[in-house]
Parts: sequence; structure tokens; C-alpha cells
Amino acid sequence: DADIRTAFEAALTYHKDFPKEGITFVDFFPVFRDAALVKKIVAEHATAIAMRGAVTGVTVTHIAGLDSRGFMLGPMIAAEMNLPFVPVRKAGKLPGKTIMAEYKLEYGSAKIEVQEDAVPKGATFAVVDDLLATGGTMTAAVGLLMKAGAKVDATYVAIELAGLGAASKVGAPVFAVSSVTDEDLSARV
Ligand code: PRP
Ligand code: MG
Repeated sequence: DADIRTAFEAALTYHKDFPKEGITFVDFFPVFRDAALVKKIVAEHATAIAMRGAVTGVTVTHIAGLDSRGFMLGPMIAAEMNLPFVPVRKAGKLPGKTIMAEYKLEYGSAKIEVQEDAVPKGATFAVVDDLLATGGTMTAAVGLLMKAGAKVDATYVAIELAGLGAASKVGAPVFAVSSVTDEDLSARV
């Protein structure tokens, strides 16, 4: 929906050299100042998940959200679809038995975890995050859920930084409400 995309893009703010030099940070939080817009974005993702299911015949049984901004839209999409929400957290934050995956960052590495009992046999996931940049976080989360024995049907982000070309590397299809090009980025800062 073009109107949603326009309102969504207008709500995002861009911050040059944050959190460090050379990075342009797209802030997703201002979108949540507009409840009507939030509901439309949630509906757009929920519809996309349902429509994909109708086409592929694959039924998504669980929604996963990535720590921490995937915890904003993820549970809302899950509630809208009457599906369970499963958090994928930065390591060391989840109690009980967990499964871990490690992934490389620009410098060093990071670890993420999911609770074992949150991933039942036969679960098929749609994975939600706010933003796809290098794709490192999403790729690791898809790998983690597969390691936990689940299927990952597709991934859903609000914003994709298209210039980094990460979508093809994630290991599952990526659906974005809004795709931001390098030209868009430089025009906004
Ligand atoms: C940001 C963003 C995505 C990720 C995208 O999260 O929310 O999760 O980076 O980058 P990538 O595609 O290059 O992996 P961040 O690690 O800043 O943590 P936060 O969500 O807890 O703020
Ligand atoms: Mg994040």
C-alpha cells in the first residue's frame, strides 16, 4: 500500500554517524508515535504472511522476533494472527534450556539464543525484525531456528537497506514494508 509506505518513510528518522562514524542509523522508534500507522504496518505483515501461505501451501505456526527491535512488531503480528511469539535474544538473557548460535559482526562476534521449549517439533517460523542491513542478524536467527529443529518459511522486516544486497544471503525470502536505497539514505541525512 503506497500510502502506508509514504507515512512510514516520513516517520523514520535518519542519523548520520550513529552509533559510530560511517554508519547511518535509521531510527524505527518514531513510527510508534503514530498508533494508526503501527496497526497498518502490522496488518501489512500479517497479510503478507497469510498471502504467502495461500500461495505456497505452507502454514506458518510461529512468529519469531529478534532482540530488541523485533520485539516491537513481532508480538503484535503474532497476536494479530493468533500465533505464538518466540523471542530470539542476545545470549545470556533467556532462562531455562537454550540453543545458541554465534555470528560474525564487523568487529568480533555476537551470540543469540532461543528457548528450547519455545520451538516445538514441526514448528514453521516467520521471523520478524525492524531492519535488514548486512543481514548478519537475520541470517544467524534463521540458522538458529533451523538448528533448533524448526523450519523457517520467510522473514519480514519493516525496512531493508537495499544497497547492501543482504536479502539474497539470508537463507529464506525477505519481505520488507519499505526498501531504502543508498540514494534515499544520502538524501535523508
Ligand atoms: C539492528 C537492527 C537489526 C540489525 C540489522 O539491531 O535492529 O536487528 O541491527 O543489522 P544487520 O542486518 O547488519 O545484522 P542492533 O544490533 O543495533 O540491536 P537492537 O535491535 O538491540 O538495537
Ligand atoms: Mg536489532
